[in-house]
Amino acid sequence: MNRQLTIVSLLLLFFSSAALAASSCVAFDISWNLLAFGLDGKDYNAGTKDSWASGSAKNITTSGRPPFDGTNTTCYLSQFYNAIYVLNADSSNPSNIYIYNAASSSWSTQTVTTGNFDVSDFVAILDHDTNIFYALSKGELYSLDMGSLTAANSTSLSWNDIEAPSFTTTGYNPVMALAQNHIHFLDVPGNAAGTANIFVIHYSYFQPEVQSYGNNSFPASHGQATSFFMDSGVQEDFAFIPDDGSATYVVSVETNTTQTLAGPSTKDSGATYFASTDSLVQLTSDGAVSYISYSNSSTEANTAATWSTVANLASVAPASSSAASSTTSKTGTSSAKGAASTSTGTGSSSNGAESAGVAIVSLGVTLMAGSIGMLLL
Ligand SMILES: *[C@@H]1O[C@H](CO)[C@@H](O)[C@H](O)[C@H]1NC(C)=O
Ligand SMILES: *[C@@H]1O[C@H](CO)[C@@H](O)[C@H](O)[C@H]1NC(C)=O
Ligand SMILES: *[C@@H]1O[C@H](CO)[C@@H](O)[C@H](O)[C@H]1NC(C)=O
Ligand SMILES: *[C@@H]1O[C@H](CO)[C@@H](O)[C@H](O)[C@H]1NC(C)=O
Ligand SMILES: *[C@@H]1O[C@H](CO)[C@@H](O)[C@H](O)[C@H]1NC(C)=O
Ligand SMILES: *[C@@H]1O[C@H](CO)[C@@H](O)[C@H](O)[C@H]1NC(C)=O
Repeated sequence: MNRQLTIVSLLLLFFSSAALAASSCVAFDISWNLLAFGLDGKDYNAGTKDSWASGSAKNITTSGRPPFDGTNTTCYLSQFYNAIYVLNADSSNPSNIYIYNAASSSWSTQTVTTGNFDVSDFVAILDHDTNIFYALSKGELYSLDMGSLTAANSTSLSWNDIEAPSFTTTGYNPVMALAQNHIHFLDVPGNAAGTANIFVIHYSYFQPEVQSYGNNSFPASHGQATSFFMDSGVQEDFAFIPDDGSATYVVSVETNTTQTLAGPSTKDSGATYFASTDSLVQLTSDGAVSYISYSNSSTEANTAATWSTVANLASVAPASSSAASSTTSKTGTSSAKGAASTSTGTGSSSNGAESAGVAIVSLGVTLMAGSIGMLLL
């Protein structure tokens, strides 16, 4: 029993950060405080950019939060209402939307009727002006109206089927970016590099023409996209980071041009991104948070910008150990993600820790076989 517990705790140590990161997310509130949710089982406020370089991020873990044990957990800022909407943060209730009221640091749980919408397979944006989610799932565009919610409504919200895009979605793994009340679909099958298909939200209209942002200005490949906020009003620029992390592209939908910034130091196709007005933040699969500065007025500054660690988060929620990263190949990363959903329960109880540990043993068994053997000796 003792030995079993030791193995369990060693494995939990080994996995904890990596295991939780796939279920974590980062977001900003409307004062551009960086929030990190579900990092090592806790939530943090890292403050504004001027406080990221040193010290310790503030623990904001409180009741009513989701367990952050979902897959593909995503966070969105509702700028008018200073609320963070969190999707896929609860593996037991994957359709729930958790609402974090950033002004009062409180959580509530919104129930959602999914209809035909598949909560395990979608990419979404939250429209700035209407506060409506738009999601592409299995070749259909859906919407969900968040109204003016800063706390859950007792009435369920619904995902509504709008229509299929005008472009082909066969084999399409969506890349969606919001700017100027338009959804930009990158990497649409058959489209040239540097282009996007556009859905005009206010007219519920798929623009037939493909828009160019400069010839070959960004690759026709899968990646992550996120919009830079303005202090008020709609977003005009979005970042696109291809899965290989080779560069960071910032597209302006005002000038229809693209700037190229440094790619993130950590190349991770499982990383997620979130931007404020002047920073782009990366959260990697193993829970490391870093950022690059962005200027909406100086291409010179953008060309020179480099990525830095958000040190006040790293000091309280370090990324997974070097041991974990050194064994983490591409398959290692996805195994760690697989383990994520079982391990998050560990925060709440020691029973949870034990059963989660056992579950991790079975899930991680292929990846860990060598190390487990070593631990048993
Ligand atoms: C901080 O972290 C602990 C767990 O380590 C938690 O119990 C506590 O409620 C947290 N939240 C705040 C706001 O201090
Ligand atoms: C995560 O998202 C990707 C892309 O939409 C999807 O292919 C995958 O099935 C999702 N995984 C889970 C477990 O929901
Ligand atoms: C919240 O509930 C009220 C009363 O049931 C309803 O009138 C309102 O439309 C709801 N809001 C949203 C965003 O669904
Ligand atoms: C893009 O390429 C096309 C065809 O090669 C060319 O006609 C056009 O001038 C180019 N546009 C820009 C902005 O370079
Ligand atoms: C950018 O593209 C949009 C949509 O096609 C167009 O309306 C706008 O005039 C273009 N802007 C510039 C500066 O070319
Ligand atoms: C540029 O960003 C600043 C915030 O950093 C914002 O106040 C300003 O409105 C932005 N201007 C443009 C033209 O995007």
